[in-house]
Amino acid sequence: MFKKSVYAIGAVLFTIISNSSAKAQQTDQSKGLKDYYSTYFPVGVAVSPRSLKDSKQAALIISQFNSITPENAMKMGPIHPAENRYNWRDADAIVAFAQANGIKVRGHNLCWHEQTPSWLFMGEDGKQVSKEVLLQRLKTHIDTVVGRYKGKIYAWDVVNEAIDDDSTKFLRNSLWYKICGEDFIFKAFEYAHAADPNAVLFYNDYNTERPEKRERIYKLLKRLINAKIPVQGVGLQAHWSLSEPSEKDLEATIKKFASLGLKIQITELDMSVYPWEKNRRDKLPGESDAFSAEKEQQQAKQYAMVFKVFRKHKDVITGVTFWNIADNYSWLDNYPVKGRKNYPLLFDQNLQPKKAYREVVKF
Ligand code: GLA
Repeated sequence: MFKKSVYAIGAVLFTIISNSSAKAQQTDQSKGLKDYYSTYFPVGVAVSPRSLKDSKQAALIISQFNSITPENAMKMGPIHPAENRYNWRDADAIVAFAQANGIKVRGHNLCWHEQTPSWLFMGEDGKQVSKEVLLQRLKTHIDTVVGRYKGKIYAWDVVNEAIDDDSTKFLRNSLWYKICGEDFIFKAFEYAHAADPNAVLFYNDYNTERPEKRERIYKLLKRLINAKIPVQGVGLQAHWSLSEPSEKDLEATIKKFASLGLKIQITELDMSVYPWEKNRRDKLPGESDAFSAEKEQQQAKQYAMVFKVFRKHKDVITGVTFWNIADNYSWLDNYPVKGRKNYPLLFDQNLQPKKAYREVVKF
C-alpha cells in the first residue's frame, strides 16, 4: 500500500516536473511579443495590405504585435504617383486594420531618395525644378499625407537615409540635396510638425552602429537640434546580421543619440543570416542558402543579445519594429542577392516561433 502510493506520488511528481520543463522549452501560446514586452516598449511589424488580407498572417500580427508600419504603402512613390493624384487605398487599409484592432501606426516615410515618383523633381518643361518648387511640393505632400492621418499615426519617419554611404562624405548627394542643399531635411521636419504637432518625428537611417556612420548621424542631429528643428527621435533601422552589431557598438549608439535628449526606436529590425552587403549581385555558383543549425543557433544568440540591450535601455527606447512578419517573405529574399533565400525574422516559413523567438521572450 505504502509502496504503491509512493509510486503514485512519484508518478504525479514526474508528470508535473516533466510537463513544466517541456513548457519551459516551449512558449506560452497565450502571450505575444507585445505581452512579454508590455512594460518595455511596443513591438511592431512592417506590413503590406496583402499580408493583412491573409487570415493566418493577420491573426499572427494581432496576437504578437501592437504597432504596425506600412512596408511600402506610405512611401512617396506609391502614395503620390502624380502631382495631383494620391493613391490612398493601401495606406487607408493598413490604418483601418490598425484602428479596428487597437494597434498603433508608425508612418514611413515622408522624404527619401529612393522610391520617389519621377514627376517630383521635374517641371512641365522636362527640366529639373528649382529649390522653391521642390520645397513647395514637399510641403504639399507632407501636409496632405500627414494631415490625412492626423491623430491616427503616432510617429513618422520624416527623413530617411540622408547620410552618404561614403564615410569621407557627409550628406548623400541625392537630387534632394543637389537641388535644396541640407535645407530639405530641416524643412521636412518643420512641415511635418506643422501638419501634426502631436506626431513624434524621427530621423531614420541604417548602419547606425558603425562608429563612422554614428558620428555623421550625430553631427546631423546636432545641427537640427541647434537650429531648433522639431525632431524628437532617431530610428535605428537595424537591418543587422549574425555578427553585426557588437554589443559594444549597439550600446555606444544608443548612449550617444540619447545624450542629445532624443528617443530611440528600432524601426526595421531583421537579422540576415549572411554578412551585410549593399550592391545587387547574382548568386554565386555553389553559394548555399540553407538555414543550418549553426546559423539558427547564432541567430538566436544575436537576437538574445540585442533584446537584452533594448530592455536595459527601456527608458529611451520607445518602440521596436520588425521588418516583415515571418521567414515566408522578407525583402532580403532577393536583396541584394537575386534568388537567395534569407531567414531573418522570429517566425519561420510556417509562421511558427523560431529558436530566436524563445530567446527574445526568455527574461
Ligand atoms: C530601407 C527603407 C525601408 C525599406 C528597406 C527595404 O531600410 O527605409 O523602407 O525599403 O530599405 O525593405
